Amino acid sequence: MKLGVNIDHIATLRQARRGVDPEPLAGAALAVLGGADGITLHLREDRRHINDRDLSILRQTIHIELNLEMAATEEMIRIARKNRPDMVTLVPEKREELTTEGGLDVRGGFDQIASAVKRMKSAGIFTSLFINPDADDIKASVDAGADAVEIHTGRYADTRGREREREFRRVATAVETALALGIEVNAGHGLNYDNVGRIAALPGVRGLYIGHSIVSRAVFVGMETAVRDMKRLITEASRDSGNRD
Ligand code: PXP
Repeated sequence: MKLGVNIDHIATLRQARRGVDPEPLAGAALAVLGGADGITLHLREDRRHINDRDLSILRQTIHIELNLEMAATEEMIRIARKNRPDMVTLVPEKREELTTEGGLDVRGGFDQIASAVKRMKSAGIFTSLFINPDADDIKASVDAGADAVEIHTGRYADTRGREREREFRRVATAVETALALGIEVNAGHGLNYDNVGRIAALPGVRGLYIGHSIVSRAVFVGMETAVRDMKRLITEASRDSGNRD
């Protein structure tokens, strides 16, 4: 199972002083050494952390899967077609949110999303939609022509006890539904060293996309170690459940 490491929060720290440190590219290189299978960055409309220069420089230097998270806007579609990341994950974006809050409203925004998917795919970019664990959104994602969905694990991560159990079942069912419909399935948001195991053990999941917990641990133990620790947890949980890698 792939581990895509989101490096946005290295850039968040840099932007705290609007300077040059810490350099996201250095973090990405250390993530590669730690065993990351991909690097993710979210270019937001307000450029609050990652900026256009980061995308350009990462595109030129990172040779594992580069996943660009972005809103399905004209500006972002143009930037993606120019930089050609290996993968684009379309996400909803609100200016006032601290982080991506919910999944895409694929049915509500169907025409805009399907058109964005088409333009990504015509540029040869594998395209995933970040959605809530909901069967109708999965079906709509298939209809929109997406290559993959990323199931939002935020509610699973943020809840406890019986509520968490319910959220876990929702994620597990969504993974099964997506696989049955023949679309690839990723998962992410809010995953950390304590809660990742059950998600990594779900059969058929292609990759997990994780940022905040890894960068938080990296502050104390370094990026390479933080990524290696996460990769080991994912590999062990995934193997125990019979997944191939
Ligand atoms: N997946 C998507 C689509 C996201 O927007 C984010 C946050 O940028 C993540 C995964 C990673 O979430 P976290 O930082 O909570 O690990």
